[in-house]
Amino acid sequence: MSDTPRPIVIANWKMYLGYAESVRAARAVRTLLARTAGRGIDVVVCPAFPVLESVAQVLRGSRIGVGVQDLHPEAAGPYTGDVSVALVRGRARFAIVGHSERRRAYGETDALVAAKALRAIRSGISPIVCVGETLEEREQGETIPTLRRQASAVVAALPALSLVRSLLVYEPVWAISRGPGKPSPQPRPEEAVQLIGLLRKVAADRHGTKAASRLRILYGGSVDARTVGPFSAEPGVDGVLVGAASTAPVSLAAITREVLRCHS
Ligand code: PGA
Repeated sequence: MSDTPRPIVIANWKMYLGYAESVRAARAVRTLLARTAGRGIDVVVCPAFPVLESVAQVLRGSRIGVGVQDLHPEAAGPYTGDVSVALVRGRARFAIVGHSERRRAYGETDALVAAKALRAIRSGISPIVCVGETLEEREQGETIPTLRRQASAVVAALPALSLVRSLLVYEPVWAISRGPGKPSPQPRPEEAVQLIGLLRKVAADRHGTKAASRLRILYGGSVDARTVGPFSAEPGVDGVLVGAASTAPVSLAAITREVLRCHS
């Protein structure tokens, strides 16, 4: 088996779609990607919690994975409004943790994000850990220390053997879109590749090059079918996390085919 990880496209539907829309979108994604997903490329859809069961049902038996957009680090307890691993097990095999929208709106710390990632791994769920600098950090020349700090906290918490089941996403906070059709400026692909290289080095410094080479590291931020090419064509970038542009099934399918083409 080749050590190069398989590329992956993750759809983060955030809070964009309603209940019926999510189910319809899942059905369309299943149809559109029937011959592509799981054949040289992985695809994961992350709907909102209330629709998780229905979306999981639509995608059951397909090669499209299902993820959640967050996870609580504790197994159970007095946590109003939160969702435990036990509540998603059997439906989701992936969990986004540390998304910048949660770091910002809920003050999530590196330690909390690391605890969520560890809880996921221990429960057989692959964590998709987001890291990235804000515009302010970038302007102050703090990009590298910020990424180092965020990534170190996570890789230090995870066992080396779990890296093959974990994902890290470089999402410059300033590059995340403001909604469908409202893309933000993106970094130059070379810059994103360089910073993804830095993230891999952080993992290698902790767990060795071999384990780090199995960790899938993705790019995210205003990706659509038109812009994804230069990011996914670069070696070392194992796929993309897509928000707004993933809510339209045709666009998600086009992005997936483009990433696959770049990796073939
Ligand atoms: P975007 O979102 O593709 O809409 O920029 C990416 C993300 O934040 O996950």
